[in-house]
Amino acid sequence: MVDPEPFIEEKIEEIDAAVGDGHAVIALSGGVDSSTAAALAYEALGDRLTPVYVDTGLMRKGETEGVRETFDYMESLRIVDARERFLDALTGVTDPEEKRHVIGEQFIREFETVAREVDADYLVQGTIYPDRIESEGTIKSHHNVGGLPERIDFEDIVEPMRDLYKDEVREVARELDLEEVVSERMPFPGPGLAVRVLGEVTDEKLAVAREANHVVEEELADYEPWQALAAVLGKATGVKGDNRVHGWVVSVRSVESRDGMTARAQEVDWETLQRIQSRITGAHDNVSRVVYDVTHKPPATIEYE
Ligand code: XMP
Repeated sequence: MVDPEPFIEEKIEEIDAAVGDGHAVIALSGGVDSSTAAALAYEALGDRLTPVYVDTGLMRKGETEGVRETFDYMESLRIVDARERFLDALTGVTDPEEKRHVIGEQFIREFETVAREVDADYLVQGTIYPDRIESEGTIKSHHNVGGLPERIDFEDIVEPMRDLYKDEVREVARELDLEEVVSERMPFPGPGLAVRVLGEVTDEKLAVAREANHVVEEELADYEPWQALAAVLGKATGVKGDNRVHGWVVSVRSVESRDGMTARAQEVDWETLQRIQSRITGAHDNVSRVVYDVTHKPPATIEYE
């Protein structure tokens, strides 16, 4: 287990030495990893760092406002509204890996624009150990690893947390005094809600997924899951009022894990599940069913795509 205090001191020195008189950029997503890396890099670099938050429209409910609030002490923070561009780029895309690819490409374009504007020579990334392992294998391509450096001519890439596991990142985040909503936050995939709606990404499915994920995170917080999520699967028949509806099926999933590489589906009590069901079907006329996923990883993955 990492000892956060000396780790932070050592990394601040390392980042400062690596960047020197140059300028660095970091992509901030609102998640634990990039938030911790940004806070660490900001301690080291101050206004020699430009954190860039791209609002892809695939984020969790309230994410953009949360980032704005948490990091408003960083004067150089850039918030890019790219929601329309991402949705356009994803039109007609149904294959999971193709989605990741399209999102990764669009992300690079958005990020590149800012990196060029601020004349950045260095890239700081919040990559952690499990990201590297999963990307080296063939399990899934994680779009926040690789890609960027090939396209922009950075002098160097700084990855202060490349050897840490998630629970160690949280230790570091706590030591850096990041708010609890950030340090204790569940992991959220880089491609966001796009991998929690099966098939083509549409505004309608995203709206259902965003609210359902919010409900699930809130209702299952006491279970302290590694991740709790909701995914929009497809359509099924239901009845609302006097009418038959062909509405979305939302699957709820909650898992325990240490590093995301394997996971156990959590046992959740019936009352909680019913409350989740009632909040999700109540919030959306176009949701006909809510189901609970009991599959471990393996054989399933944590995300649905
Ligand atoms: P899976 O679904 O592969 O997920 O069991 C393992 C962990 O990785 C996250 N995940 C991703 N993270 N980009 C990311 O940054 C991705 O494309 C991606 N796919 C999965 C997932 O949320 C879980 O924590």
